[in-house]
Amino acid sequence: MSAGSLDKTATIDLRRRHIGPSCKIFFSHDPIKIVQAKGQYMYDEIGQRYLDCINNVAHVGHCHPDVVKAGAQQMELLNTNSRFLHDNLVLYAQRLQATLPDKLSVCYFVNSGSEANDLALRLARHYTGHKDIITLENAYHGHISSLIDISPYKFHQLSDTVHNQFVHVAPSPDVYRGKYRADHPDPATAYADEVKEIIDKVHKKGGKVAAFIAESLQSCGGQVIPPAGYFQRVADHVHKAGGVFIADEVQVGFGRVGTHFWAFQLQGEDFVPDIVTMGKPIGNGHPMSCVVTTKEVAEAFMSSGMEYFNTFGGNPVSCAIGLAVLDVIVKEDLQGNAQRVGRYLINLLEQQKEKHPLVGDIRGCGLFVGVELVRDRLKLTPATAEAQEILYKLKEQHILLSADGPYRNVLKFKPPMCFSTEDADLVVEKMDHILTDNCMFYQIFISTLFVIYSKLPADENGLECHSGLVHSKGRSQGVRQQTKHLKI
Ligand SMILES: Cc1ncc(COP(=O)(O)O)c(C=O)c1O
Repeated sequence: MSAGSLDKTATIDLRRRHIGPSCKIFFSHDPIKIVQAKGQYMYDEIGQRYLDCINNVAHVGHCHPDVVKAGAQQMELLNTNSRFLHDNLVLYAQRLQATLPDKLSVCYFVNSGSEANDLALRLARHYTGHKDIITLENAYHGHISSLIDISPYKFHQLSDTVHNQFVHVAPSPDVYRGKYRADHPDPATAYADEVKEIIDKVHKKGGKVAAFIAESLQSCGGQVIPPAGYFQRVADHVHKAGGVFIADEVQVGFGRVGTHFWAFQLQGEDFVPDIVTMGKPIGNGHPMSCVVTTKEVAEAFMSSGMEYFNTFGGNPVSCAIGLAVLDVIVKEDLQGNAQRVGRYLINLLEQQKEKHPLVGDIRGCGLFVGVELVRDRLKLTPATAEAQEILYKLKEQHILLSADGPYRNVLKFKPPMCFSTEDADLVVEKMDHILTDNCMFYQIFISTLFVIYSKLPADENGLECHSGLVHSKGRSQGVRQQTKHLKI
């Protein structure tokens, strides 16, 4: 029997039997079976179209013909490891480097965001000879052991984990809900000083900091946009301590933020990380990823004497696909599209904020946008169950959106970069209807709370809802505007 020909219940049965139960599925009480996709649309087994507002992996559009063709043509010719000379590897490295500051000139090709971040930690530790790592609250950097250790998003879910003594967690630079907010005179310095304090504590205990790692914009952490200047100040502190700065661009790179190709560039031209990790969009769905660093870091890694070999990393097929992705981004001006459509989407969402008290904050850059829902704009009580209800109602109307952040109350937009203003109109119009009805459904909300909770979908990384919040008491009517626009 060929793939895709089972009826849906049979697929569900087989999945239950043979796939690990911790591999969660979207909308678990009524999962979607997707059999085809094109551009920003996905199609189920009966041909129903869904608008995809979340898939930043299908960066240039699902199954883009240029990418598919590049991969298929190279597969017909050759696929092998990088121990043989091949032009695709070097040409791709050269093209990728051209998008980055000059100092970031050496590439290591790997196969997933997790592999990239794990290698970044190794590079940092070899280069510095230090061990301690500073990560951010709510961060997610990957699924392998070394990265679960630096991913509070994950390790906070486990009550019995022993926290790695070399890992230190700094406050998330979230100016909406975090420790220093938009009304603080200098949140960038205040958040960076928190990192400095951690460094001092590490030193007092006799440790030494190898790296600070952060996503250039926190994604799973709740679409957090750090205040401008934060990374420069952190980098100063970390460099003085002999450590390096790792920017995780696995979610947010490749033009998504619109104004720049890399999200770390939002911080200003005077900021250049020592190591950048890439993944998801790099291969438009093909499993590939990359670590880019400086000559100095690469030479230190070399001097360890150990060969770095990766069976699939940088193979000719992956590199052909990577090149095609870069070509399409330019040919279709997808970075420009992200900027234009992102701005349009944010304007529409701002109007929703004026209209609906539940919408607490709109933040984003390009096609990376978060909508934080709160029951009270002063107390910032997270509207977790409401967010889940909105996702379900959108799904019923064939729109796929997700929610994340520590309270899962931040609706996150990170669609394929071909997302259009018409798509933005459609999703915001549907959200408007749901939010309008929300005033009514809130009356029955409390009574159905437990039913909703039992049906909560897992997000892309399987985070389950914080039960304490689901049981939180009713919302206040406070609607005073408290949010501020970020300058980035
Ligand atoms: C910021 C970030 N880094 C790294 C990873 C890990 O990537 P992968 O799932 O490809 O291993 C993810 C995955 O969601 C991520 O969001």
